[in-house]
Amino acid sequence: MTEKTSETEDSVAFDVEGGIAWVRFNRPAKRNSMSPTLNRRMMQVLDELEFRDDVCVLVLSGEGAAWSAGMDLKEYFRETEANGLGAVRRAQSEAYGWWRRLRWYRVPTIAMVNGWCFGGGYGPLFACDLAFAADEAQFALSEINWGILPGGGATKVVVELLSMRDAMYHALTGELIDGRKAAAWKLVNESVPLSGLKARVTEVAEVLLKKNPVALKATKDAIRRVAEMTYDNAEDYLVRAQEAANSFDNEGRKEGIRQFIDEKSYKPGLGAYDKAR
Ligand code: COA
Repeated sequence: MTEKTSETEDSVAFDVEGGIAWVRFNRPAKRNSMSPTLNRRMMQVLDELEFRDDVCVLVLSGEGAAWSAGMDLKEYFRETEANGLGAVRRAQSEAYGWWRRLRWYRVPTIAMVNGWCFGGGYGPLFACDLAFAADEAQFALSEINWGILPGGGATKVVVELLSMRDAMYHALTGELIDGRKAAAWKLVNESVPLSGLKARVTEVAEVLLKKNPVALKATKDAIRRVAEMTYDNAEDYLVRAQEAANSFDNEGRKEGIRQFIDEKSYKPGLGAYDKAR
């Protein structure tokens, strides 16, 4: 888990260290806008990292001044549209594909929003389980400023996360909000000064690293799934999801019970059991 590997290839960069995969949008000169090339590369990187034993948490951030300035207006919109509907649909499925992959990723994911976050960037922002922003980061649904509706799921993201009034204001005005306001609106969990952002995200990732990985995956999926269920359906889903998780991890939860009830070495209300034993 402490081995360090590093690779930078074109539009996506990543390092794996101490159980955390640090993945970065890597087109700083284009403010990390998402081109078809970046979208294809990101899917490859996610694919490569998902089942590695040394990856237990994934953090998505951006190189330079941006997290992501949304879709690349030239390469994603203008150039694909010039190549016809087939090219447009292919580009959409490549972008939506890696966001969907990230929504249901094997390990917990954290968006570390270091700078600009616009429009299409709300897709991967929502796909990450948790989100931490720099106070200095700037967010906007800027689509209205250049004449389209917030597509690619961005409208759905703000309706899921914000109040109806804030979502409507955000989408209709295209006004920028900073990290502090994004946290107040619950678009992200928290905002902290940029100088302390990586330390705060590392701290949260380290909390997750201590937890049972099967329980983390079952829990993150459950949070997203039950959101659209009735209470009774959720109750039923959760029974079945836990039973399915048990077949992946027969020993972990028994060990968790044993360390609390028999050994009295920890309290589940106050922290995680020792996975190393
Ligand atoms: N699509 C394509 N190119 C983009 C881009 C995008 N979404 N965002 C930035 N770029 C490019 C610029 O065209 C410029 O390219 P150039 O150097 O070849 O001229 C380069 O990135 C730097 O952008 P610039 O505007 O000079 O940087 P800035 O720091 O002054 O401003 C932004 C940053 C993010 C405010 C500004 O680039 C911007 O408004 N981008 C568009 C954001 C947006 O509306 N995205 C929604 C898409 S759905």
